[in-house]
Order: sequence, then C-alpha cells, then structure tokens
Amino acid sequence: MNKSVLALALLVATPVLANEEVERTIDYRQSVYTVVGKQMGTLAGMARGRIDYNQPAAQLAADTIAQLALVAPHTFSDESVGVDGTDALVAYQTDRADFDTVMEEFQATSATLALALDDADEFPRREFGAMAQTCKGCHDQFKAD
Ligand code: HEC
Repeated sequence: MNKSVLALALLVATPVLANEEVERTIDYRQSVYTVVGKQMGTLAGMARGRIDYNQPAAQLAADTIAQLALVAPHTFSDESVGVDGTDALVAYQTDRADFDTVMEEFQATSATLALALDDADEFPRREFGAMAQTCKGCHDQFKAD
C-alpha cells in the first residue's frame, strides 16, 4: 500500500471527530431532551395512574415541554448529526421535510396539552397521548436506538 492509499484508508476508518462547536450543539440538544424526558416521566406517571393527578405539577411539566419544544429545532445542525457522541441520525439532513413536520407536531401537541391542563379536573389523557406519539414518531426516524 503506498502512503496516500494508507492515508485515505485511515481517513475512512477514523470516525469523524466532532469539533468543539459540534460538541456544544450535541450537549445542548441532549440537555434539552433530558429535561423533556424527565418532565415526560411525571406526565406519563399521571397518565398511567402511577402518580396521583396533581394539576400544578402536571402544568409545570407540560409548560416546560411546550417551551423546550420551541427550543428543540435550534439544537440541531447538519454537522451535529450522524457523528460520534450523538444518537441523532443523518436522516435529519436527508429527510428534512419529515423532520420539520414532526417537530411542528411536537410543538403543536405540547402546546395543546399545556392548554388542556389549564383548570383541568382530570388528567387530559387524549392530549397527552397525541403528544407522546410525536416523541415516538421522531425517535423512530431520526434517533438511533
Ligand atoms: C423532532 C424530533 C424529536 C422529538 C419530537 C422528540 N425527540 Fe427525543 N430525541 C430526538 C433526537 C434526535 C435525540 C438524540 C439526541 C442526541 O443524542 O444528540 C433525542 C433524545 C432524547 C432523549 C435522550 C437525551 C439524552 O440524554 O441524550 C430523551 C430522554 C428524549 N429524547 C425524550 C423525548 C420525549 C419524552 C419526547 C416527547 C415529549 C421527545 N424526546 C421528542 C428527537 C426528538
């Protein structure tokens, strides 16, 4: 193998090293989704009856998710998907229209849930279910298992 072929082989074999900005984007995204996941745990617990329905706690969780759903699109960039250290798939780049659609559904359904909770005597299961579908919808297509 001559030197340039070897260099090329190494280049192909070496995982893409994320630069600092990419790493920051990934950290930010994972932080946002970690909070979303934690708040989701509270809501899912109430939906399943594992946690007693508590309006203020449910409202805080739903409001937080609805706000972070507005932040979420700003935590993605073409360079920060499909690289080491992230579960975000390159489908973000290649199926961008689908991604934008599911992101808009996430924003819309989380806002609807937050609104449905206002003064609600019972946990709004239907609105919760609609939002939960968008988590799964996006993860199935845009997040590695
Ligand atoms: C529009 C796409 C999209 C939607 C909607 C979405 N997620 Fe995610 N989620 C992702 C991607 C992509 C990652 C991988 C992030 C990474 O590793 O950089 C992720 C990661 C996560 C993680 C792991 C965070 C970590 O510690 O790395 C959790 C928890 C999570 N999502 C929960 C949720 C919940 C709960 C919902 C719905 C309420 C949701 N997500 C909605 C795309 C989405």
